[in-house]
Amino acid sequence: MTLTEKQKEKVDSLLKEMTLDEKIGQMNLESTSILGAFGIPLAEIRKMAKDGRLTREEIEEMMDNTDCDYHEDEVREGRLGAIIASDPRRANETQRIAVEESRLKIPLIFGYDVIHGMRTVYPIALAEAGSFDDELFEETARMAAKESRAYGVMWDFAPMIDVARDARWGRVSEGPGEDPYLASRFAERKIRGLQNDRSDTQNYVAACTKHYVAYGACEGGRDYNTTSMAVSQLYNVYLPPFRAAMAEGAASAMASFNDLNGVPCTANSYTLRDILKDELALGGFAVSDANGIKECIVHGYAEDSADAVIKSVNAGLDMDMGSHLYSKELKSAVESGAVSLSAIDDAVRRILSVKVWLGLFEHPYVPEEVIESYEKGLPAEHIALARKAAQESIVLLKNENSVLPLNRTQKICLVGSLAGNAEEIVGSWAMGWKKRDCVSVLDGFKNAGAKVQYFPCCGPEGEMNEDELSSALEYGDVIVAVVGETRDMSGEASSKADITLPGRQREMLERLLETGKPVVAVLMNGRPLALKWESEKIPAIVEAWQLGIQMGNAVADVLLGDVAPSGRLASSFPMVNGQCPVYYNHPNTGRPAGMSRFSSKYIDEETFILYPFGYGLSYTEFKYSDLCVDEKADQLEMSVMLKNIGSANGTEVAQLYIRDVAASLVRPVKELKGYKRITLKAGEEKKVSFSLKKQDMGFYDNNGKYVLEDGLFRIFVGGNSRDTLMQEITVEF
Ligand code: NOJ
Repeated sequence: MTLTEKQKEKVDSLLKEMTLDEKIGQMNLESTSILGAFGIPLAEIRKMAKDGRLTREEIEEMMDNTDCDYHEDEVREGRLGAIIASDPRRANETQRIAVEESRLKIPLIFGYDVIHGMRTVYPIALAEAGSFDDELFEETARMAAKESRAYGVMWDFAPMIDVARDARWGRVSEGPGEDPYLASRFAERKIRGLQNDRSDTQNYVAACTKHYVAYGACEGGRDYNTTSMAVSQLYNVYLPPFRAAMAEGAASAMASFNDLNGVPCTANSYTLRDILKDELALGGFAVSDANGIKECIVHGYAEDSADAVIKSVNAGLDMDMGSHLYSKELKSAVESGAVSLSAIDDAVRRILSVKVWLGLFEHPYVPEEVIESYEKGLPAEHIALARKAAQESIVLLKNENSVLPLNRTQKICLVGSLAGNAEEIVGSWAMGWKKRDCVSVLDGFKNAGAKVQYFPCCGPEGEMNEDELSSALEYGDVIVAVVGETRDMSGEASSKADITLPGRQREMLERLLETGKPVVAVLMNGRPLALKWESEKIPAIVEAWQLGIQMGNAVADVLLGDVAPSGRLASSFPMVNGQCPVYYNHPNTGRPAGMSRFSSKYIDEETFILYPFGYGLSYTEFKYSDLCVDEKADQLEMSVMLKNIGSANGTEVAQLYIRDVAASLVRPVKELKGYKRITLKAGEEKKVSFSLKKQDMGFYDNNGKYVLEDGLFRIFVGGNSRDTLMQEITVEF
């Protein structure tokens, strides 16, 4: 995010004119609380929607007739600079008050959660990351940015780039998985997609990277929980995606709810000022997460509201999301000298810079024709991209006896209440979708012309319809069971102690297996699941995640063999709950798991990861051979022969890993350093090459210093993090 000299002057001249109250107003972000929703709490409305007392259409109608508080008076008086909302006409009306009726005419910035699409919902990030497709990461973000603008949103609370290794944490669904390298590539491309097409102000938004920082390390996988780690761990694992995003010019960052080594990230001057602003050079501003400032009191880090505000603003937190405390306490904190005016000016300069960079002073409104065009329906290219993204995110986990692909002559017995559901497919934090845009798995099969009969039978919430199950047992040549989780079983505040298939879904699978017909389990879920039983019993397993509005078509495309499965896992799958957290890139112990009892393992369960990071099958097989590693000037050059040895065409994700064999800090057993998607026809062979800069083979020490240490490295190339070829090389830097 760079400003021209003229834009900087604009910011400076505004700052000079602003009163303290107006400055504090810019640091204040409010949401549009619902007014008069018939006195029914939102949670109850949600329940009513679930149990059928209200249809989605009825809810939409209710919402249309419900008013939201856009805080017009505060806007007019310059006491509010930012609003969380996504209604373009209301945004325009409120913006008009800001730019015509407030003293300094500073436009509002409207923020919203657009982490995997606005109205066109793309796969959840955990799924999309598994496509290992950098162009796709960027393209879905670019389209999401355009759609955001059409909804009056110019500040996306995205990308969510928390590295997460504990599948119990519900928010693994929102981010790019367990690996810092993949998460960094994902972060970088998302920022480009959201921010870089500045050919028109309707084409780009300000990104808000979140949740800064180490939120994914919450203890026990419990949301909002404490985090505690060495500096080297912070720098090597959790910071990289934020570093990559800042290097691409990300406009803002959201402080996470967790405390890190005892200091809440909302009020953490080490992470906000020293690292984010000084070291990573955030150009824009830092905002709290919802109510984060107030929560510093509950953490036990601040005595009262005033203390929480002083600690947050002094730590470098520029904007208050929803705790109302900057507007309440900041003025007296400045007057008493507890907060300096220069700290306020720094915050306001950053916020104004983003507004200027977004072109809001010249183009504050969403053009009516843009609003109308989205009301008519979604652009065809957005739908096509949603389908492609969904196809590429599907991971084939098991395919015994080549049950898949199915053919169109087979009669498909489709079971599981998730299969006919067009709402669960959007996953968590999907906000602007319309049911009429969503394609369920059932509809996907129908659209593809498959012979399909549907029996809902059973779902994740414990429901089981015996009659439907008995009928299902009688029908078809092959059974496709869509099982998994509802969309609110993952995402925020959806941590789970048990990540096996919920409800009676396993029981249903057992009954289906008894028919002796081939059974395909299609998983629809927002986190890695513990699938030991399923992996032993079910012949074919497809991880289909929550793939967004085109899920049904994409699942049918892959199951019917029109598209080869090419997604890989961005997060390792444990066998059982008690193995969490599992991740491939762990440091070695002095006693790695082995035959000896006195090794790092469980006595009642294997330590083996069920499906490791990078894993995924195809309808063909790939063979790697002839790994060569060469050193050339300041980089290593790797090549490997990759052959499609099966009878179908397919796409492989070739992955490069390294291991620093002995270092001044214990290094991971493998670390991803590159990947390539390669499409090969049956029988085709290609040489695949990777380059790795020696500069990228180092790590951060416990002072946050990047070090390169000479010595022996192992280089691995393969189709997942477990099965690789290996060569050793001694490297001098
Ligand atoms: C809370 C969530 O943690 C964050 O991800 C989201 O962006 C904000 N609320 C705003 O909705």
